[in-house]
Amino acid sequence: MSNFQTEDGRITGRVAGGAAPRHVAIIMDGNGRWAERLGQPRTFGHHRGVDRVREIIRAAPDLGVGILTLFAFSTENWRRPHYEVSVLMRLFKRYIIREVEDLDHERVRVRFIGEREGLPGDLQRVMAQMEERTRGNDRLLLQIALNYGSRKELVRAARHLAAEAAAGRLAPGEIGEDEFAGALYTAGVPDPDLVIRTSGEQRISNFLLWQAAYAEYAFVEECWPEFTPELFAAVLDRFANRERRFGAIAVDGAAGG
Ligand code: FPP
Repeated sequence: MSNFQTEDGRITGRVAGGAAPRHVAIIMDGNGRWAERLGQPRTFGHHRGVDRVREIIRAAPDLGVGILTLFAFSTENWRRPHYEVSVLMRLFKRYIIREVEDLDHERVRVRFIGEREGLPGDLQRVMAQMEERTRGNDRLLLQIALNYGSRKELVRAARHLAAEAAAGRLAPGEIGEDEFAGALYTAGVPDPDLVIRTSGEQRISNFLLWQAAYAEYAFVEECWPEFTPELFAAVLDRFANRERRFGAIAVDGAAGG
């Protein structure tokens, strides 16, 4: 269950000792707008965005974060102009090739979530190599959502479970929350405690709909290229002082929510 549960199973009303959230998920929004504001092409924002990705990954373990999930490309992002999509695909590939050595050295385990089949073959290959190379690392689990859409993920899980049931390997009555969670891309990974979205937009945008059912949300005004490790630390500080009750009654007796 959650790391906010006491040994006797009660849910604590407050994150113990201002602890950092164990799993943080980020919707990295606003690259394009940030660049346009500076009179630059949108792709300039994506390049700056990569610099921030590097810094935030480096900062996360020192801030007590054990799992970081970054929304890099959604199943809806294919609707963008062809040129922008192809720049992004090249940028992802270059990022992986350039960073694999350092990430491995820093004991970061990388895992990609989303529909791989729709991605360019050369990108799929370097993704698989990065996962393989970093498989044994344990300082930070980095999940990169690439060609990810939560509804598609849920449909895929439902199809998988239905197929198992049709094959007689699973009785429909045995399908519960754990079985469902186990059929998602994120199988085995604890749910996010905090979801951050940059650029002032307050939407979920088809991101981790199942997994973030009890997450806290933080919407920050700054665009992703402006999201520094200092700002990240400040958001985590704010989170540490919030109450989380998971629908239960807080230990101090306040009404749950
Ligand atoms: C949102 O800005 C950002 C993206 C669609 C791409 C995210 C990619 C990166 C931050 C770069 C690299 C990532 C990795 C993991 C290497 P937007 O274009 O939606 O901005 P807008 O809302 O202003 O148009």
